[in-house]
Amino acid sequence: MIEKVTVFGAGTMGRGIAQVAALAGLAVTMQDLSEGILHPAVQAIRANMAKGVAKGKLEACSAEAAIGRLSVATDPLQAAEGAGFIIEAIVENLETKKDLFRLLDRSCPAEVIIASNTSALSLTELASATRRPDRVVGMHFFNPVPLIHFVEIVRGLETSAETIETTASLMKRMKKETVVISDSPGFITSRVNVLIGNEAFNMLQEGVASAQDIDKALKLGLNHPMGPFELVDLVGLDIRLSVLRDLHARLGEKFRPSPLLVKYVNAGRLGKKVRRGVYVYDEEGKRLPG
Ligand code: NAI
Repeated sequence: MIEKVTVFGAGTMGRGIAQVAALAGLAVTMQDLSEGILHPAVQAIRANMAKGVAKGKLEACSAEAAIGRLSVATDPLQAAEGAGFIIEAIVENLETKKDLFRLLDRSCPAEVIIASNTSALSLTELASATRRPDRVVGMHFFNPVPLIHFVEIVRGLETSAETIETTASLMKRMKKETVVISDSPGFITSRVNVLIGNEAFNMLQEGVASAQDIDKALKLGLNHPMGPFELVDLVGLDIRLSVLRDLHARLGEKFRPSPLLVKYVNAGRLGKKVRRGVYVYDEEGKRLPG
């Protein structure tokens, strides 16, 4: 049974993963490039748990115990020491991830499983950087990790059945529902989601309806929690465009980015992060009318 997990990357996803792992009773070490990144990440985890306690969703003693199980390290090998399972959530760059996988493969005992939270890169290719491709697996968590109880487990070409089983049981301990899928571009969720979002841009360009009405139709008619434009403003139009370009190259014509999306990105309308995307936002992130 896995007792210690090391999470590489203390950004948006890494800190969320570390939080749910610690709450599941696992010892967790979170690694990042500097103390200056790790310190605020731990503070954010504390604040997030405090919110849960204030809302009555989490016992104060469980939060305290989880924090007690969490440690941090900047040295990768020190961080991985004693871990039975490693979850990588560093920047989405194939070469940077491969370098880390190579290093971990050289230094960790043979039975240690190395998982990646990549949102689009090939697991099979990441695994090829190691001498243990049977113990490399994808774990696609969703943002915000503590609130979304679902993970796509991605089977690379050589991932073993035992690795999948261990990963699935770890996810069960972290209270995540899972599906196991074969390594393929965009997995299930991104592949469907970017098509919906892209078609929404095509409709807006054709003048089928306003952005507000397209969002309204998908929310009320199809029961989507957010409209496609609300969602893309949150994700970032530039990020969405880069995923579409990747899927277009790998899966073909149906993923060709809508010219209107490209135009918005060229205009610097990148979404909520710059206060201008499909919609316009004030300094507090509140959407302005029009
Ligand atoms: P982020 O930019 O918030 O965090 C990445 C962290 O990795 C940074 O703190 C950075 O300092 C650190 N880092 C960079 N190189 C490193 C290295 N060599 N060793 C250790 N740490 C290193 O990124 P985010 O959003 O947390 O994404 C992380 C991964 O999760 C990416 O692969 C991304 O595609 C994936 N992902 C992101 C989702 C999202 O909604 N943000 C959803 C699902 C997956």
